[in-house]
Amino acid sequence: MAKRKVGVWLIGAWGGVATTVVVGLTALRKGLTDTTGLVTSLPPFAKLDLIQWDELVVGGHEIRDTSYAAEARILVEKSHVFNEKTLAAIAPQLSKFDGNIRPGTLVNVGAKIESLAGPAALKLRKETAAQAVARLAKDIQDFKTKEKLDRVVVVNVSSTEPPPPDVVRTWKWAEIQKSLAAKAPSPLPASTLYAIAAMQSGSHFVNFTPSIGSDLPGLDEYAHLQNTLHVGRDGKTGETLMKAVLAPMFAARNLKVMSWVGHNIFGNLDGKVLDDPENKANKVKSKDHLLTEILGYKPQTLVSIEYIESMGDWKTAWDHIHFQGFLGTPMVLQFTWQGCDSLLAAPLVIDLIRLTEREARRGSSGVMTHLASFFKSPMGTDEPAFAYQFQQLTQWVDRVANEDDGDE
Ligand SMILES: NC(=O)c1ccc[n+]([C@@H]2O[C@H](COP(=O)([O-])OP(=O)(O)OC[C@H]3O[C@@H](n4cnc5c(N)ncnc54)[C@H](O)[C@@H]3O)[C@@H](O)[C@H]2O)c1
Repeated sequence: MAKRKVGVWLIGAWGGVATTVVVGLTALRKGLTDTTGLVTSLPPFAKLDLIQWDELVVGGHEIRDTSYAAEARILVEKSHVFNEKTLAAIAPQLSKFDGNIRPGTLVNVGAKIESLAGPAALKLRKETAAQAVARLAKDIQDFKTKEKLDRVVVVNVSSTEPPPPDVVRTWKWAEIQKSLAAKAPSPLPASTLYAIAAMQSGSHFVNFTPSIGSDLPGLDEYAHLQNTLHVGRDGKTGETLMKAVLAPMFAARNLKVMSWVGHNIFGNLDGKVLDDPENKANKVKSKDHLLTEILGYKPQTLVSIEYIESMGDWKTAWDHIHFQGFLGTPMVLQFTWQGCDSLLAAPLVIDLIRLTEREARRGSSGVMTHLASFFKSPMGTDEPAFAYQFQQLTQWVDRVANEDDGDE
């Protein structure tokens, strides 16, 4: 089988999740770690001929001026993730990937995110939305040409932006084009500009963040026009994964959930950005909606997200579930989830890259609804329960495994 060459273009390329993806991919390539945490390394996926670690090349957009080595060092020193020996062994590959990172856009990112930007991104601060799309698409296209790539999967792992005006959520492709062409500044958020740029360059778009990205009717139209794939939003890695697993249990046992309170504390850069109420609004919404969808009624809920600097990349979620049993008796379930944020997210991002690349080989376009189990707010499906979503994925695996190899 001829080797493939596939590009991974990370938006937020030097952030915690992106850095962990790159460290993880490079460590896997060198055989320095095993595949624990990767869904696509479970036995049923072996039939799919998924892309291998040494067939992936990394590039991306970023607004801060830093490097993979510097960001990995922060994760080691502040949060005690990775081991020193692994980092030393992969350092040359990390600096090679640094060479593929280009300045991101600050169009409609809000004041909090703008305050993170370094000189390279700030220089481009005055660009319009249309200019940003053209520049970002060219960067992706140049990466594809320079690295002689078969295809590129663009993954948004950048900071959570404030929500755009509601009207944008309904826009068709014609309205998006009109807004980009207008003299007045377009309200399209940066995550959507990245999605358009990805599709314009013929690449596929995965949105791991709660930002809107490609979750508008017009972007699905454009995906079909460009024969590209897209999916999102907001990776389901910890507390919300627990909600999606536990809430169906209460529903199936006819136990009435009266209230569900979840307090989250963590101290990484993502937490710092989410400390701003505008940016937090997107995340809280994404973590909160699925209980009503699963239970069929709305219990009282509270989601808090607090930035506690000393916690670094370690997140603690404490959930208190107050429910009513037989004869009206109140009972309580409490759980505490303590996870390392980037280490939970990175393998899922790698899974999404491999699964998107495999679906692209089948030549399909539009939303990949079979990937719902990876997201808090999955696009293109109303089914919020994890077990059902995972079944959709395994059914897709069976379907694809029974087809001819879709390689071109
Ligand atoms: N870690 C998890 O478990 C998890 C789960 C679900 C979703 N997410 C989401 O994934 C995203 C990344 O998380 P993280 O912990 O890596 O955050 P992070 O703050 O460490 O990284 C985000 C990176 O994006 C960069 N950035 C911001 N705006 C940008 C722009 N317009 N263009 C290019 N780059 C930009 C920042 O400079 C930063 O390097 C966040 O939106 C987070 O909410 C994370």
